[in-house]
Amino acid sequence: MSEPRIVGVNLAGRSYDIAIGPGLIDRAGALAKKLLAGPRVVIVSDETVAPLYGARLAASFTNAGIDAAVVTVPAGESSKEFAGFGRLLSDLLDRGVDRKTTLVALGGGVVGDLTGFAASVLLRGVDFIQVPTTLLAQVDSSVGGKTGINTRHGKNMVGTFYQPRLVLADTEVLDTLPRRELLAGYAEVVKYGLIDDPAFFDWCEANAAAVLEGDAAKRTYAIEQSCLAKARIVAADERETADLRALLNLGHTFGHALEAETGFGPDLLHGEAVGAGMAMAFDLSARIGLCSESEAARVNRHLASVGLPLRLRGIGGNNSRTWDSARLIGHMRGDKKAAAGRLTFVLVKGIGQAFVTRDVDEALLRGMLDAAIAA
Ligand SMILES: NC(=O)c1ccc[n+]([C@@H]2O[C@H](COP(=O)([O-])OP(=O)(O)OC[C@H]3O[C@@H](n4cnc5c(N)ncnc54)[C@H](O)[C@@H]3O)[C@@H](O)[C@H]2O)c1
Ligand SMILES: [Zn+2]
Repeated sequence: MSEPRIVGVNLAGRSYDIAIGPGLIDRAGALAKKLLAGPRVVIVSDETVAPLYGARLAASFTNAGIDAAVVTVPAGESSKEFAGFGRLLSDLLDRGVDRKTTLVALGGGVVGDLTGFAASVLLRGVDFIQVPTTLLAQVDSSVGGKTGINTRHGKNMVGTFYQPRLVLADTEVLDTLPRRELLAGYAEVVKYGLIDDPAFFDWCEANAAAVLEGDAAKRTYAIEQSCLAKARIVAADERETADLRALLNLGHTFGHALEAETGFGPDLLHGEAVGAGMAMAFDLSARIGLCSESEAARVNRHLASVGLPLRLRGIGGNNSRTWDSARLIGHMRGDKKAAAGRLTFVLVKGIGQAFVTRDVDEALLRGMLDAAIAA
Protein backbone atom coordinates (compact mmCIF):
# COMPACT_ATOMS: atom_id res chain seq x y z
CA MET A 1 0.00 0.00 0.00
CA SER A 2 1.34 3.43 -0.89
CA GLU A 3 2.49 5.62 1.96
CA PRO A 4 0.21 8.52 2.86
CA ARG A 5 1.32 12.08 2.18
CA ILE A 6 2.11 13.91 5.41
CA VAL A 7 1.55 17.61 6.11
CA GLY A 8 3.07 18.84 9.35
CA VAL A 9 1.26 21.53 11.31
CA ASN A 10 3.87 23.40 13.30
CA LEU A 11 2.65 24.98 16.49
CA ALA A 12 4.93 25.40 19.50
CA GLY A 13 4.46 22.33 21.69
CA ARG A 14 1.36 21.19 19.85
CA SER A 15 2.63 20.18 16.43
CA TYR A 16 0.92 17.30 14.69
CA ASP A 17 0.69 15.55 11.35
CA ILE A 18 -2.08 15.33 8.80
CA ALA A 19 -1.83 12.06 6.86
CA ILE A 20 -3.62 12.00 3.51
CA GLY A 21 -4.31 9.09 1.17
CA PRO A 22 -6.50 6.11 0.39
CA GLY A 23 -7.19 3.36 2.92
CA LEU A 24 -6.23 5.25 6.10
CA ILE A 25 -9.35 4.18 8.04
CA ASP A 26 -8.00 0.64 8.08
CA ARG A 27 -4.55 1.77 9.18
CA ALA A 28 -5.67 4.23 11.85
CA GLY A 29 -4.83 1.99 14.80
CA ALA A 30 -1.29 1.35 13.60
CA LEU A 31 -0.70 4.99 12.67
CA ALA A 32 -2.11 6.40 15.91
CA LYS A 33 -0.81 3.86 18.40
CA LYS A 34 2.45 5.55 19.36
CA LEU A 35 0.63 8.83 20.04
CA LEU A 36 -1.93 7.47 22.48
CA ALA A 37 -1.66 8.19 26.21
CA GLY A 38 -3.33 4.85 26.94
CA PRO A 39 -4.62 1.82 25.00
CA ARG A 40 -8.16 3.15 24.71
CA VAL A 41 -10.12 5.31 22.26
CA VAL A 42 -13.74 6.35 22.02
CA ILE A 43 -14.85 7.09 18.47
CA VAL A 44 -17.46 9.83 18.11
CA SER A 45 -19.39 9.75 14.85
CA ASP A 46 -22.80 10.64 13.44
CA GLU A 47 -25.68 8.38 12.51
CA THR A 48 -24.84 8.53 8.80
CA VAL A 49 -21.10 8.00 8.99
CA ALA A 50 -20.96 5.47 11.87
CA PRO A 51 -22.73 2.69 9.91
CA LEU A 52 -20.43 3.30 6.93
CA TYR A 53 -17.05 3.44 8.64
CA GLY A 54 -17.45 3.05 12.42
CA ALA A 55 -16.85 -0.70 12.59
CA ARG A 56 -13.85 -0.58 10.23
CA LEU A 57 -12.23 2.23 12.20
CA ALA A 58 -12.90 0.47 15.52
CA ALA A 59 -11.46 -2.77 14.12
CA SER A 60 -8.29 -1.04 13.03
CA PHE A 61 -7.74 0.10 16.63
CA THR A 62 -8.66 -3.28 18.11
CA ASN A 63 -6.26 -5.00 15.71
CA ALA A 64 -3.52 -2.75 17.07
CA GLY A 65 -4.33 -3.80 20.65
CA ILE A 66 -6.34 -0.68 21.47
CA ASP A 67 -9.75 -0.84 23.09
CA ALA A 68 -12.32 1.05 20.94
CA ALA A 69 -15.96 2.00 21.48
CA VAL A 70 -18.24 4.06 19.22
CA VAL A 71 -20.74 6.72 20.32
CA THR A 72 -23.00 8.49 17.82
CA VAL A 73 -24.78 11.80 17.57
CA PRO A 74 -27.53 12.68 15.07
CA ALA A 75 -26.20 13.80 11.66
CA GLY A 76 -26.38 17.50 10.92
CA GLU A 77 -25.74 20.92 12.37
CA SER A 78 -28.32 20.48 15.15
CA SER A 79 -25.83 18.27 17.00
CA LYS A 80 -23.73 21.40 17.57
CA GLU A 81 -26.26 22.73 20.08
CA PHE A 82 -25.76 22.89 23.83
CA ALA A 83 -28.26 20.12 24.49
CA GLY A 84 -26.55 17.71 22.11
CA PHE A 85 -23.15 18.69 23.46
CA GLY A 86 -24.32 17.99 27.02
CA ARG A 87 -25.64 14.59 25.99
CA LEU A 88 -22.35 13.73 24.30
CA LEU A 89 -20.32 14.63 27.41
CA SER A 90 -22.58 12.44 29.54
CA ASP A 91 -22.39 9.56 27.04
CA LEU A 92 -18.60 9.81 27.07
CA LEU A 93 -18.47 9.81 30.87
CA ASP A 94 -20.91 6.87 30.92
CA ARG A 95 -18.33 5.01 28.84
CA GLY A 96 -15.78 5.59 31.57
CA VAL A 97 -13.57 7.98 29.60
CA ASP A 98 -10.51 8.85 31.68
CA ARG A 99 -7.62 11.27 31.17
CA LYS A 100 -5.70 8.70 29.15
CA THR A 101 -8.55 7.98 26.75
CA THR A 102 -8.27 9.52 23.28
CA LEU A 103 -11.40 10.70 21.49
CA VAL A 104 -11.53 10.05 17.73
CA ALA A 105 -13.80 12.28 15.64
CA LEU A 106 -15.09 10.28 12.66
CA GLY A 107 -17.24 12.49 10.44
CA GLY A 108 -17.61 15.88 8.86
CA GLY A 109 -17.06 19.29 10.38
CA VAL A 110 -19.99 18.90 12.74
CA VAL A 111 -18.52 15.84 14.42
CA GLY A 112 -15.03 17.36 14.33
CA ASP A 113 -16.05 20.65 15.95
CA LEU A 114 -18.21 18.93 18.54
CA THR A 115 -15.69 16.24 19.45
CA GLY A 116 -12.80 18.67 19.54
CA PHE A 117 -14.73 20.91 21.92
CA ALA A 118 -15.68 17.93 24.07
CA ALA A 119 -12.04 16.79 24.18
CA SER A 120 -10.90 20.26 25.22
CA VAL A 121 -13.16 20.41 28.29
CA LEU A 122 -13.78 16.80 29.28
CA LEU A 123 -11.82 16.07 32.48
CA ARG A 124 -10.12 19.42 31.72
CA GLY A 125 -8.79 18.09 28.46
CA VAL A 126 -8.22 14.72 26.83
CA ASP A 127 -6.40 14.01 23.57
CA PHE A 128 -8.25 13.75 20.31
CA ILE A 129 -7.67 12.58 16.76
CA GLN A 130 -9.59 13.70 13.69
CA VAL A 131 -10.70 11.33 10.96
CA PRO A 132 -12.52 13.80 8.69
CA THR A 133 -14.92 12.21 6.21
CA THR A 134 -16.16 15.19 4.16
CA LEU A 135 -13.97 17.09 1.72
CA LEU A 136 -14.76 20.27 3.67
CA ALA A 137 -13.54 18.69 6.90
CA GLN A 138 -10.42 17.28 5.22
CA VAL A 139 -9.33 20.61 3.73
CA ASP A 140 -10.66 23.05 6.27
CA SER A 141 -12.37 22.25 9.55
CA SER A 142 -9.93 19.54 10.71
CA VAL A 143 -6.96 21.88 10.23
CA GLY A 144 -6.28 24.75 12.59
CA GLY A 145 -7.72 23.70 15.92
CA LYS A 146 -10.93 25.68 16.08
CA THR A 147 -13.63 23.76 17.93
CA GLY A 148 -17.08 24.85 18.93
CA ILE A 149 -20.83 24.71 19.13
CA ASN A 150 -23.70 27.01 18.18
CA THR A 151 -25.97 29.11 20.38
CA ARG A 152 -29.04 31.13 19.51
CA HIS A 153 -26.61 34.05 19.05
CA GLY A 154 -25.02 32.37 16.10
CA LYS A 155 -22.77 29.64 14.86
CA ASN A 156 -19.60 28.68 16.71
CA MET A 157 -20.18 31.26 19.43
CA VAL A 158 -18.82 28.95 22.14
CA GLY A 159 -15.64 27.00 21.59
CA THR A 160 -11.92 26.64 22.06
CA PHE A 161 -8.67 26.52 20.16
CA TYR A 162 -7.61 22.93 20.71
CA GLN A 163 -5.28 20.99 18.45
CA PRO A 164 -5.69 17.29 17.63
CA ARG A 165 -2.78 14.85 18.02
CA LEU A 166 -3.22 13.53 14.50
CA VAL A 167 -5.49 13.97 11.48
CA LEU A 168 -6.15 11.07 9.10
CA ALA A 169 -7.77 12.14 5.83
CA ASP A 170 -8.79 8.98 3.97
CA THR A 171 -9.50 9.97 0.36
CA GLU A 172 -11.64 6.85 -0.24
CA VAL A 173 -14.37 7.81 2.21
CA LEU A 174 -15.29 10.65 -0.14
CA ASP A 175 -16.75 8.03 -2.50
CA THR A 176 -19.90 7.82 -0.37
CA LEU A 177 -20.24 11.56 0.14
CA PRO A 178 -23.21 13.10 -1.69
CA ARG A 179 -22.08 15.06 -4.77
CA ARG A 180 -23.46 18.29 -3.38
CA GLU A 181 -21.38 17.97 -0.19
CA LEU A 182 -18.31 17.13 -2.30
CA LEU A 183 -18.75 20.27 -4.40
CA ALA A 184 -19.26 22.39 -1.31
CA GLY A 185 -15.93 21.17 0.02
CA TYR A 186 -14.33 21.76 -3.36
CA ALA A 187 -15.16 25.47 -3.11
CA GLU A 188 -12.85 25.65 -0.08
CA VAL A 189 -10.12 23.89 -2.08
CA VAL A 190 -10.32 26.51 -4.84
CA LYS A 191 -10.21 29.18 -2.15
CA TYR A 192 -6.59 28.34 -1.30
CA GLY A 193 -5.55 28.94 -4.89
CA LEU A 194 -7.43 32.20 -5.01
CA ILE A 195 -5.88 33.46 -1.74
CA ASP A 196 -2.20 33.20 -2.58
CA ASP A 197 -1.40 30.36 -4.96
CA PRO A 198 -2.26 31.10 -8.61
CA ALA A 199 -0.46 27.96 -9.79
CA PHE A 200 -2.77 25.89 -7.62
CA PHE A 201 -5.77 27.63 -9.14
CA ASP A 202 -4.42 26.70 -12.61
CA TRP A 203 -4.10 23.12 -11.36
CA CYS A 204 -7.70 23.19 -10.09
CA GLU A 205 -8.96 24.35 -13.47
CA ALA A 206 -7.16 21.49 -15.17
CA ASN A 207 -7.95 18.78 -12.61
CA ALA A 208 -11.29 19.57 -10.97
CA ALA A 209 -13.14 16.91 -12.94
CA ALA A 210 -10.67 14.17 -11.95
CA VAL A 211 -10.73 15.27 -8.30
CA LEU A 212 -14.51 15.20 -8.23
CA GLU A 213 -14.72 11.89 -10.10
CA GLY A 214 -12.53 10.18 -7.54
CA ASP A 215 -8.96 10.05 -8.89
CA ALA A 216 -7.08 9.07 -5.71
CA ALA A 217 -3.77 10.72 -6.59
CA LYS A 218 -5.41 13.99 -7.60
CA ARG A 219 -7.65 14.00 -4.56
CA THR A 220 -4.63 13.45 -2.37
CA TYR A 221 -2.80 16.32 -4.09
CA ALA A 222 -5.77 18.71 -3.77
CA ILE A 223 -6.18 17.91 -0.07
CA GLU A 224 -2.44 18.11 0.57
CA GLN A 225 -2.11 21.53 -1.08
CA SER A 226 -5.14 22.78 0.84
CA CYS A 227 -3.82 21.54 4.17
CA LEU A 228 -0.36 22.99 3.44
CA ALA A 229 -1.93 26.36 2.68
CA LYS A 230 -4.12 26.40 5.76
CA ALA A 231 -1.37 25.02 8.01
CA ARG A 232 1.03 27.71 6.79
CA ILE A 233 -1.44 30.47 7.58
CA VAL A 234 -2.52 28.98 10.91
CA ALA A 235 1.08 28.45 12.05
CA ALA A 236 1.77 32.13 11.43
CA ASP A 237 -1.42 33.38 13.10
CA GLU A 238 -2.96 30.62 15.23
CA ARG A 239 -5.48 32.77 17.06
CA GLU A 240 -6.43 35.13 14.26
CA THR A 241 -4.86 38.15 15.92
CA ALA A 242 -3.34 39.54 12.74
CA ASP A 243 -5.09 39.85 9.41
CA LEU A 244 -3.31 36.79 8.09
CA ARG A 245 -5.70 34.09 9.28
CA ALA A 246 -8.53 36.36 8.13
CA LEU A 247 -7.46 35.69 4.52
CA LEU A 248 -9.01 32.25 4.98
CA ASN A 249 -12.33 34.09 5.03
CA LEU A 250 -12.15 34.90 1.33
CA GLY A 251 -15.76 34.69 0.12
CA HIS A 252 -16.99 34.28 3.68
CA THR A 253 -18.36 37.76 4.46
CA PHE A 254 -20.62 37.48 1.42
CA GLY A 255 -21.20 33.78 1.98
CA HIS A 256 -22.20 34.33 5.58
CA ALA A 257 -24.80 36.88 4.50
CA LEU A 258 -26.24 34.40 1.99
CA GLU A 259 -26.32 31.67 4.62
CA ALA A 260 -27.99 33.98 7.14
CA GLU A 261 -30.63 34.87 4.57
CA THR A 262 -31.29 31.22 3.73
CA GLY A 263 -31.43 30.24 7.40
CA PHE A 264 -28.12 28.28 7.57
CA GLY A 265 -30.15 25.37 6.28
CA PRO A 266 -30.25 22.85 3.48
CA ASP A 267 -31.11 25.48 0.83
CA LEU A 268 -27.51 26.61 0.76
CA LEU A 269 -24.57 24.63 2.16
CA HIS A 270 -21.68 26.55 3.70
CA GLY A 271 -19.27 25.66 0.89
CA GLU A 272 -21.85 26.62 -1.71
CA ALA A 273 -22.23 29.99 0.01
CA VAL A 274 -18.44 30.38 -0.01
CA GLY A 275 -18.33 29.60 -3.73
CA ALA A 276 -20.92 32.26 -4.51
CA GLY A 277 -19.19 34.59 -2.02
CA MET A 278 -15.81 34.21 -3.72
CA ALA A 279 -17.38 35.06 -7.07
CA MET A 280 -18.81 38.18 -5.39
CA ALA A 281 -15.43 39.10 -3.87
CA PHE A 282 -13.90 38.99 -7.36
CA ASP A 283 -16.82 40.88 -8.85
CA LEU A 284 -16.57 43.64 -6.24
CA SER A 285 -12.78 43.78 -6.63
CA ALA A 286 -13.22 44.20 -10.40
CA ARG A 287 -15.81 46.95 -9.90
CA ILE A 288 -13.44 48.80 -7.59
CA GLY A 289 -10.73 48.43 -10.20
CA LEU A 290 -8.49 46.29 -8.00
CA CYS A 291 -8.62 43.24 -10.23
CA SER A 292 -9.23 42.73 -13.95
CA GLU A 293 -12.68 41.86 -15.25
CA SER A 294 -11.19 38.92 -17.10
CA GLU A 295 -9.79 37.34 -13.94
CA ALA A 296 -13.12 37.79 -12.15
CA ALA A 297 -14.84 36.14 -15.11
CA ARG A 298 -12.32 33.28 -15.09
CA VAL A 299 -13.00 32.53 -11.42
CA ASN A 300 -16.74 32.68 -11.99
CA ARG A 301 -16.39 30.33 -14.95
CA HIS A 302 -14.43 27.73 -13.02
CA LEU A 303 -16.78 27.69 -10.04
CA ALA A 304 -19.82 27.46 -12.31
CA SER A 305 -18.22 24.75 -14.48
CA VAL A 306 -18.01 22.26 -11.61
CA GLY A 307 -21.66 22.87 -10.79
CA LEU A 308 -21.50 25.25 -7.84
CA PRO A 309 -24.61 27.46 -7.68
CA LEU A 310 -23.56 31.06 -8.28
CA ARG A 311 -26.81 32.69 -9.32
CA LEU A 312 -28.80 33.90 -6.35
CA ARG A 313 -32.02 33.32 -8.25
CA GLY A 314 -31.44 29.59 -8.44
CA ILE A 315 -30.32 29.02 -4.87
CA GLY A 316 -32.21 26.23 -3.12
CA GLY A 317 -34.24 25.76 -6.29
CA ASN A 318 -36.41 28.55 -4.95
CA ASN A 319 -37.06 31.07 -7.69
CA SER A 320 -39.50 33.04 -5.59
CA ARG A 321 -37.01 34.03 -2.89
CA THR A 322 -36.64 37.80 -2.75
CA TRP A 323 -33.11 38.95 -2.13
CA ASP A 324 -32.46 42.42 -0.83
CA SER A 325 -29.06 44.11 -0.83
CA ALA A 326 -29.73 46.15 2.32
CA ARG A 327 -30.71 43.03 4.20
CA LEU A 328 -27.59 41.22 2.99
CA ILE A 329 -25.41 44.11 4.15
CA GLY A 330 -27.23 43.96 7.50
CA HIS A 331 -26.20 40.31 7.83
CA MET A 332 -22.60 41.23 7.03
CA ARG A 333 -22.61 43.71 9.90
CA GLY A 334 -23.92 41.05 12.24
CA ASP A 335 -21.05 38.69 11.35
CA LYS A 336 -18.84 38.15 14.40
CA LYS A 337 -15.85 38.80 12.18
CA ALA A 338 -17.03 42.40 11.65
CA ALA A 339 -14.75 44.25 14.06
CA ALA A 340 -16.69 46.91 15.98
CA GLY A 341 -19.44 47.05 13.37
CA ARG A 342 -16.99 47.73 10.55
CA LEU A 343 -17.38 45.49 7.57
CA THR A 344 -14.27 43.48 6.89
CA PHE A 345 -13.74 42.10 3.42
CA VAL A 346 -11.17 39.91 1.81
CA LEU A 347 -10.74 41.38 -1.67
CA VAL A 348 -8.30 40.54 -4.44
CA LYS A 349 -5.81 42.22 -6.74
CA GLY A 350 -6.06 39.13 -8.91
CA ILE A 351 -6.08 35.36 -8.66
CA GLY A 352 -3.79 34.43 -5.77
CA GLN A 353 -3.57 38.01 -4.47
CA ALA A 354 -6.08 38.31 -1.64
CA PHE A 355 -5.87 40.97 1.05
CA VAL A 356 -7.96 42.21 3.96
CA THR A 357 -9.61 45.59 3.85
CA ARG A 358 -12.03 47.55 6.02
CA ASP A 359 -12.74 50.35 3.62
CA VAL A 360 -15.15 49.43 0.95
CA ASP A 361 -17.43 52.03 -0.55
CA GLU A 362 -20.92 51.01 0.45
CA ALA A 363 -22.51 52.30 -2.77
CA LEU A 364 -20.23 50.05 -4.83
CA LEU A 365 -21.00 47.14 -2.53
CA ARG A 366 -24.71 47.71 -2.90
CA GLY A 367 -24.36 48.07 -6.69
CA MET A 368 -22.57 44.72 -6.90
CA LEU A 369 -25.21 43.03 -4.74
CA ASP A 370 -28.09 44.54 -6.71
CA ALA A 371 -26.51 43.29 -9.94
CA ALA A 372 -26.02 39.81 -8.43
CA ILE A 373 -29.65 39.76 -7.35
CA ALA A 374 -30.82 40.84 -10.82
CA ALA A 375 -28.56 38.39 -12.69
N1 LIG B 1 -13.34 24.28 12.92
C1 LIG B 1 -13.21 24.94 11.77
O1 LIG B 1 -12.19 25.58 11.50
C2 LIG B 1 -14.32 24.87 10.77
C3 LIG B 1 -14.10 25.32 9.48
C4 LIG B 1 -15.13 25.18 8.55
C5 LIG B 1 -16.34 24.62 8.93
N2 LIG B 1 -16.53 24.21 10.22
C6 LIG B 1 -17.79 23.59 10.64
O2 LIG B 1 -17.97 22.40 9.92
C7 LIG B 1 -19.35 22.10 9.85
C8 LIG B 1 -19.69 21.68 8.43
O3 LIG B 1 -18.94 20.52 8.13
P1 LIG B 1 -19.36 19.53 6.96
O4 LIG B 1 -19.62 20.30 5.74
O5 LIG B 1 -18.36 18.47 6.94
O6 LIG B 1 -20.82 19.02 7.43
P2 LIG B 1 -21.33 17.74 8.22
O7 LIG B 1 -20.41 17.32 9.27
O8 LIG B 1 -22.72 18.06 8.63
O9 LIG B 1 -21.36 16.64 7.07
C9 LIG B 1 -22.23 16.81 5.98
C10 LIG B 1 -23.13 15.59 5.79
O10 LIG B 1 -22.40 14.55 5.16
C11 LIG B 1 -22.53 13.34 5.90
N3 LIG B 1 -21.27 12.62 5.70
C12 LIG B 1 -20.07 12.93 6.22
N4 LIG B 1 -19.12 12.16 5.71
C13 LIG B 1 -19.71 11.31 4.85
C14 LIG B 1 -19.24 10.28 3.99
N5 LIG B 1 -17.94 10.01 3.89
N6 LIG B 1 -20.15 9.60 3.26
C15 LIG B 1 -21.47 9.92 3.33
N7 LIG B 1 -21.97 10.90 4.09
C16 LIG B 1 -21.09 11.60 4.84
C17 LIG B 1 -22.81 13.77 7.30
O11 LIG B 1 -23.47 12.76 8.02
C18 LIG B 1 -23.67 14.99 7.08
O12 LIG B 1 -25.01 14.61 6.87
C19 LIG B 1 -20.09 23.36 10.27
O13 LIG B 1 -20.64 23.15 11.55
C20 LIG B 1 -19.00 24.42 10.33
O14 LIG B 1 -19.23 25.40 11.32
C21 LIG B 1 -15.54 24.32 11.13
ZN1 LIG C 1 -15.61 28.04 5.13
